[in-house]
Amino acid sequence: MASSLDGKVVLISGTGSGIGRAGALRFAEAGAAVVGCDLDAEHNAETHRMISAAGGTMVDVSPVDLGELAGCQAWVDRAIDEFGRVDVLWNNASACAFKTIDTMTVEEWDFSIRNELSLVFLGTKAAWPHLNESHGLVINTASVAGHGGGVGGIAHSATKWAVRGMTHVMAAEGAPGGIRAVSISPGVIETAGSAEQLGMPGATEALLRQSLVPRLGQTDDIAKAAVFLASDDAAFVTGIDFRVDGGLVNHG
Ligand SMILES: NC(=O)c1ccc[n+]([C@@H]2O[C@H](COP(=O)([O-])OP(=O)(O)OC[C@H]3O[C@@H](n4cnc5c(N)ncnc54)[C@H](O)[C@@H]3O)[C@@H](O)[C@H]2O)c1
Repeated sequence: MASSLDGKVVLISGTGSGIGRAGALRFAEAGAAVVGCDLDAEHNAETHRMISAAGGTMVDVSPVDLGELAGCQAWVDRAIDEFGRVDVLWNNASACAFKTIDTMTVEEWDFSIRNELSLVFLGTKAAWPHLNESHGLVINTASVAGHGGGVGGIAHSATKWAVRGMTHVMAAEGAPGGIRAVSISPGVIETAGSAEQLGMPGATEALLRQSLVPRLGQTDDIAKAAVFLASDDAAFVTGIDFRVDGGLVNHG
């Protein structure tokens, strides 16, 4: 991949696993300094080692809980202390309860809103002044669940539809400061986060039948899309949702 992000400082959340880890590896490969964070310090340290071994730059801020403004602020402050700027904020981390309306508890609902929606607002709030200075970019990880909704997705669809709406607001409010904002909607991607869903009998086969590209998504599919959106080649792109779903939404 072309080294197009030299000198950029990129904050990515959830770098201990799945899409966040793949994103950290790709952004580092493209020349960016990655400021990664996660609740899970052990797995994030592993990502740190992978990037160092590949000759890239990553600062590891973990464990950090992005459900609190203080956690988000610590993450952003670390980027400023180390590099003096923030060019890209990728709000990617999330955790959610997948339950039906009758089985989801109020506590599980609140947990999902906190860890899938509030952290997008809080991370953006903490980074906003620095993004205004750099005329930077916000990437939010949404989902195909933010284009529809199915059984067990009451909280997940609520948050991911909201993330897409928030992205429009960020693009509008950011425009005067030269900030772009986009969301990415992954289809079903093979990660620890989707293992339970994909492990249900017949789930993978049903998905493949609905998909125009007959395979499951990989974390690198999303990482490469994010690197493109952060590059100068995407300078005219803002306020959109970029679906990387193998045609699932068109066809499902
Ligand atoms: N995997 C999929 O099929 C899929 C599909 C569509 C959208 N997404 C979205 O992509 C993003 C990444 O998904 P993934 O499958 O890689 O997830 P994952 O579960 O593999 O990784 C998420 C990471 O976020 C961290 N995290 C969760 N809550 C946190 C908090 N409060 N503070 C700090 N870190 C926290 C977790 O520790 C974990 O390491 C999520 O926003 C998810 O909703 C995933």
